[in-house]
Amino acid sequence: MKTIFSGIQPSGVLTLGNYIGAMRQFVELQHEYQCYFCIVDQHAITVPQDPKQLRQNIRSLAAFYLAVGIDPNTATLFVQSEVPAHAQAGWILQCLSYIGELERMTQFKDKSAGKEAVSAGLLTYPPLMAADILLYKTDIVPVGEDQKQHIELTRDLAERFNKRYGEIFTIPEARIPKVGARIMSLADPLKKMSKSDPNQKSYITLLDDAKAIEKKIKSAVTDSEGTIRYDKETKPGVTNLLNIYSILANKTIEQLEQQYAGKGYGEFKSDLAQVIMDALAPVQEKYYHLMESSSLDDILDKGAEKANQVANEMLKKMEHAMGLGRNRG
Ligand code: AQP
Repeated sequence: MKTIFSGIQPSGVLTLGNYIGAMRQFVELQHEYQCYFCIVDQHAITVPQDPKQLRQNIRSLAAFYLAVGIDPNTATLFVQSEVPAHAQAGWILQCLSYIGELERMTQFKDKSAGKEAVSAGLLTYPPLMAADILLYKTDIVPVGEDQKQHIELTRDLAERFNKRYGEIFTIPEARIPKVGARIMSLADPLKKMSKSDPNQKSYITLLDDAKAIEKKIKSAVTDSEGTIRYDKETKPGVTNLLNIYSILANKTIEQLEQQYAGKGYGEFKSDLAQVIMDALAPVQEKYYHLMESSSLDDILDKGAEKANQVANEMLKKMEHAMGLGRNRG
């Protein structure tokens, strides 16, 4: 059975972008692959986090994984900082990375742009992500398009290590959904939707209620043409809304264009708000139930135990191959 690894940062309440780009794929794939799903809290601290809020976000993200349909009896769900091998292997891979290649990462450029003080961790985040993936002999990493560049770097680092120290790592591949790999901000459809965007109107969270969703969709930036037509270049706002609608309602873009021919943005947006609410309502119901139950901790404890076993084995191989520590047979 092939192995999947994917992580999400507990850096805020999940958005529709995280759900459509990443989580929905996880649910589809979990029975065909051996799956490791990680709450990457060490990635979240590359930008300042409030400690209380971070701890809450970790629990909340665990509940989201389960609420969208991850089965903890099949998949291993765990918190990154509870498996120390990630940071240890991350350090090793940092020592294999070049500053130049890290500075070229688009996410680093985006997140550091205009900031006076940027943490070194923001620059060295990709080798830690590479460690996350490589520790589990991962074959496939299901992610949204924004992570493609980081997976390419992971492949380069794995190949570099294998060449210098012996064939230890499996070379992973990114799996990016054909549609919905990049859900855009509602406030600026040229930017991706992000949970840490300071403008709350730019994203829909998985916990937004019907009123909030309606308000945000109503104020979503479109254009003055007034027709519901898919065109990335000239109508990025409407195109983004059509993508969300099409994925959640399971209708093709052509069907939607026909359905709304001659109709205005008002009706289209109000129907879309309903479609989003219909998709999120069952997730929210399960989420609130899980947050109240004690099963979350048991699941995460069991997940950490399994992940520690697998990750430590690979870490030992890496250290041995590089000559770290003493050889005690
Ligand atoms: N807008 C998006 N469209 C499609 N997929 C997306 N993903 C994120 N945003 C979109 C996918 O969600 C997974 C988890 O991402 P993450 O939380 O680890 O980090 P991120 O990619 O940086 O996501 P955010 O929401 O933008 O987080 P912040 O604001 O904290 O940086 C990944 O598979 C990602 O591709």
